[in-house]
Amino acid sequence: MKNTQPIGIFDSGVGGISVMSHIQSLLPNESLAYVADSLFAPYGLKSKDVILERSKTAIDYLIKKQSSKLIVVACNTATAAAIQELRHIYEIPIIGMEPAIKPATKATICKKVGILATNGTLESAKFSALLETYSGEIDFHTQPCPGLVELIEQGKINDLSINILIQKYLDPLIEKKVDTIVLGCTHYIFIRKLIKNQMGANVRIIDTGLAVAKQVKSELEKFSLTNKTNEKYYSIFTNSQNLKMEEIIRSMTTNLDFNYSYHSNWN
Ligand code: DGL
Repeated sequence: MKNTQPIGIFDSGVGGISVMSHIQSLLPNESLAYVADSLFAPYGLKSKDVILERSKTAIDYLIKKQSSKLIVVACNTATAAAIQELRHIYEIPIIGMEPAIKPATKATICKKVGILATNGTLESAKFSALLETYSGEIDFHTQPCPGLVELIEQGKINDLSINILIQKYLDPLIEKKVDTIVLGCTHYIFIRKLIKNQMGANVRIIDTGLAVAKQVKSELEKFSLTNKTNEKYYSIFTNSQNLKMEEIIRSMTTNLDFNYSYHSNWN
């Protein structure tokens, strides 16, 4: 294994690019290879078995074709469904996502926290166990958001339709008077501003991107895999059949301060 090999990152679609951006800022010497399984998005309502198969296909590509030295499952739904099995199958380190429940328990003042995630994440045993650990004096209100990932994948983050859907999902949380919202799906980071606008300026919105980037850094150090050279590149691969996908990704990543090559030919 060479330290110059890339970190492999995957998600059901574009959501994990938000995580990729945190990893790039914290670890600017590392090459990054990103796979969006857009053809099979969303994962949110798919079975555990299908998600495991898709995750294996993405990771096989990242290891065999892109020579990844470490994998980041930049998808809460795939982590909840398959991370244990994936860690058994592959020898290289695999890091997953987890809704930021612990930081939310520290951030909330009124002890009421709303969690936005996919059905798959919220219905998983892994999530129930996580919630169980932190419930007690905190009221957690979970809200599945079917339909949001699809609109984000279509690049409709400025459309009225997404605002209407967000309002529908936030109304119950506003009624419960939560003061903290956990973004338990990496796609939702792209609509953070819309959520903030509807919840109001005093509501805290928490995601896990930076925490995961820090975990990647410490795993690289632990396994002596940190790239000490300046040779690096960034690639984004999709299997989307949407001819506008490159345009959508470019529009979502205008604030990234790194250039990447785009490929629509994986798998
Ligand atoms: N970004 C994925 C997550 O974090 C989206 C899931 C989906 O495809 O439904 O859960």
